[in-house]
Order: sequence, then structure tokens, then C-alpha cells
Amino acid sequence: MDFRVSVTTPEKQSGACVVVGIFESRKLSDAAKVIDKASNGYIKAILSQGDMDGKAKDTLVLHNVPGVQSKRILLAGLGKDKEFNNNKFLTVTDAVFKTLQKTGSNDATIFLTDIPVKDHGIEWKTQQIVRIATSNNYQFNQLKSKPEDTKPILSKITLGINDQAQLDISKQALEQGLAIANGMSLAKNLGNLAPNICTPTYLAKQAQDMAKKHKLKVSVFEQKDMDKLGMGSLLSVAQGSDQPAKLIVLEYQGQAKKEQPIVLVGKGVTFDTGGISLKPSPDMDEMKYDMSGAASVLGTMQAVAEMKLPINLVVIVPATENMPSGKATKPGDVVTSMSGQTIEILNTDAEGRLILCDALTYAERFKPKAVIDVATLTGACVIALGHVATGIISNDDKLAQELLCAGEQAADRAWQLPLWDDYQELLHSNFADMANIGGRAAGTITAACFLSRFTKEYRWAHLDIAGTAWKSGKEKGSTGRPVPLLSQYLILQSKKSN
Ligand code: BES
Ligand code: MN
Ligand code: ZN
Repeated sequence: MDFRVSVTTPEKQSGACVVVGIFESRKLSDAAKVIDKASNGYIKAILSQGDMDGKAKDTLVLHNVPGVQSKRILLAGLGKDKEFNNNKFLTVTDAVFKTLQKTGSNDATIFLTDIPVKDHGIEWKTQQIVRIATSNNYQFNQLKSKPEDTKPILSKITLGINDQAQLDISKQALEQGLAIANGMSLAKNLGNLAPNICTPTYLAKQAQDMAKKHKLKVSVFEQKDMDKLGMGSLLSVAQGSDQPAKLIVLEYQGQAKKEQPIVLVGKGVTFDTGGISLKPSPDMDEMKYDMSGAASVLGTMQAVAEMKLPINLVVIVPATENMPSGKATKPGDVVTSMSGQTIEILNTDAEGRLILCDALTYAERFKPKAVIDVATLTGACVIALGHVATGIISNDDKLAQELLCAGEQAADRAWQLPLWDDYQELLHSNFADMANIGGRAAGTITAACFLSRFTKEYRWAHLDIAGTAWKSGKEKGSTGRPVPLLSQYLILQSKKSN
């Protein structure tokens, strides 16, 4: 998809379609007024016939409007002007692209960025339009022998603005929006791929390709290397699988080398059967998405490299399958993590924390400014927050606030849960330093408590994306979350450090 920004007026646009907004009770937005004037009141006449009232998400396509060069005018209902807010902007924009897709237009000029949205300027609106357009065009056809009747004909989007002074800022927002949208597409592709294709080896190859393209430093550690590092916990998950585990490390330098990096750690379980604590069969295919944390940190790395942000960033992906076999870890096994702490594995299905803990210990060597891990860690998080918010748990309230705020701004929201000491005792083991599960109660928090025992050396936050990384049912597919949240956080950090 090709995007551009142009200082222009709607009636002069030749092309397949021009999009302008209508508020409820037939109130015209500024861009709609311009069209109405050029067409001698055509728009007002249509509205007073009762064809459209301007209710949010309603759309109406007009053809061959007199006095206007574009083939079509798409009127986008905005709802009541007093109630228009960021959420409405998102749902309206989504409705616009769904309608555009049906019209057969291959290009469109959109006049929505001048509609006022409280607390959100042209930057935000531009970014969101780019993201929503890209998401609506997204298809995953790689594994079909013949592509299905493919929908994207819409290939060129122009964002019409009326103020020359906003051109530069809008262009930059467009670039950033595009980088984030591309990062999301990468994350979606990796998530949606079949688990016989997207193995730890495949993830490592993707990281190497990205490193080559964007001049990043990449290291891929093999099982023998991890053994040398003492990553007994990570390797205990991998030992049941015929696919070799990999520890992938990518380094991006956008600042002086001496500046401390931010480290992102992504859970890369390319398939989670549960191991000997085998999961039930229904929907088990969805455990191909158990590498969504890895996919999202790789997508974020790509976005940061494309934006050329002035920060230092490290991405660490522990990648493995979790399989049952004669060699697999058994409930009751005790393993020693890289930190030296011992773990009694009471449930082999709580494997995410077992691979993350060693990756988190490894992260210490980067002397990080902050470490954020991203993981489809607990079913309990889906019960707590549903498919709306990502769970955040942190040992540093300021970091948690920054992430919550970034999620709010990026329309990729999260919600904080407590990391109080009261929960720690649930991980007690009679035989090792800790157990790998804490029982059914507060499952998301006890999982984070487990991780917190490996993150004492730095500021750390954990994002549980079990409910937000993919959709089930008819719309089954990866969401690309939380690439927007992480990218926004890093954009804000890059502004702070410069
Ligand atoms: N990958 C799963 C978590 C998960 C389950 C995410 C369903 C999304 C949907 C994770 O490895 C897991 O199995 N967690 C267990 C932990 C339990 C054994 C303490 C869970 O949540 O049931
Ligand atoms: Mn599991
Ligand atoms: Zn898992």
C-alpha cells in the first residue's frame, strides 16, 4: 500500500474516491462543506432526503457528484460532534476502509485528520489511519495453493490536509505509522504461520534476515551454547522436542554505544502442547500462537529500525517447542536455572516462565535501562482481562505507568496487576528454591512473581498478552499486538533521551 500526505482541497481531487465526514443530525465537517459548495448544495440535498443522518460508522457512497472531480464521494458518519473522541475516530476510520474495500476503488483521498479529537493531534490521527488501512488490507495467503479472491484493490491512500504548516509533522507521523503497521504485519505473519514451518530454527532465520536488511547485530545460540551458559531451565523445556531450541539476540544501535539499551524479551514457544502435563485437544492448534511474544518483539525491532529511532535496543527471544516425549521433563523434576536458583517443575505446561527466566538472567549483561518481557503466559490473564487489555506487572511503578500511557496513546491498551509480596509464598516448594506454579488463584500474578525472582538487577515489566495476541473463531488470526504499545513506548523514550 502506498501512502502520502498532500495539502489539497477535496473538490479538486481526481481519482476513485474522496472521503469526508458528516456529524449526526446532518452536520457537515469542514471538508464536506467544501464539497457541498462546489456541487451547489448536492450533499445537503442528499442528506435532507434522509439517505444519511451521520450516525457513527454509517457510510454512504455517492457517484458522479457534480462540480467534483473524483469519481466517488464517501460520506463517513461521525456520530454526535460533542461525543466525537479517539475511540470514535478509530471505529469510524475502520468503517471507512471496510466500505472503501467494497467500492472497488484503487485509490482514495481521505479528509479526516482535520476533525478535532480531544488530546490527539494530527500525528496521532495520521498514524491511526495508516495502521487501520494496513490492517484492513492484511491477508494471509502464503499457505494456500491458489490465492482466494483477493480483496486488496485499494492500493493508494492520500491523506488530504488543508494546512501547509502541518505537512512535515504529518509526513513524519505517516512514516512512523507505516513502520508500526509493517512491524504488526511481520508479527502477524509469524504468528499465523503453521507450527511445522515456524519452528525455533525458522525464527532464528527471520532474525538473521532482519539483521542483514537493517544492519543489526545478531547472535543465535545453540543448545550446546545454552548448556555452557547454564540455562538448565530453558533447556528442560526443549528436551522433549526434536526441534532444536535457539536463543536469538538482536542488537540495534541508534545512539552512542555507551548509552544503556532497553531490552525486550519475547516468549518464543513455537508450539505448546503442555508437554507431559498435556493440554486438552480442543483448540490446541491455537498454541501455534505461543510465540506471539517473540513475534511482537521482532516486529517492534523492525519498526524501530525503520524509524531509525535514536535509542539502543536489544531483543532476546528464547525459542523452543514444548512437547511430550520419552525425553521430556516430568512433573517433579528439579532443574537449575542460569541464575543458580533451583526450580521444581510441578506442571510442564507452565513452560513460558521456564524459558523466560533464563533469558531474563541473560539480559543482565546488557546493563539495561529497562527490561520488558512479552509473553502469552497465562490462561488466567484471558479470564481477568478478556481480549481487550494486555496485563502489565512491574517491579517499577514508573515504568508500568510509561507503558500504560504508551498503550493508551497507541490504542493498544494494557492494565496493571499488583506484584505484592503476599503472592510470592504461593510458589513455595518443599524440594527446590521455588515451584513453577502457584495454583489456580491469581495465576497471572504468580507467574509474574516467578519471573520477578530473576529480574532483581534492573527495572522490569512483564506484559501478559495471552488474551490480546490473537483472535479465535471465524476471525482466527494474529492481531500484531502489542507492537503499537511497544513502538509508542520506544518513540517516547527516544524523545526523552535526546
Ligand atoms: N501458553 C499457555 C498460556 C495460554 C493458554 C495462553 C491459553 C493463551 C491461551 C501457557 O504456557 C500455559 O499453559 N499456562 C498455564 C499455566 C498453568 C499450568 C499454571 C495456564 O495458563 O493454564
Ligand atoms: Mn503451557
Ligand atoms: Zn505456553
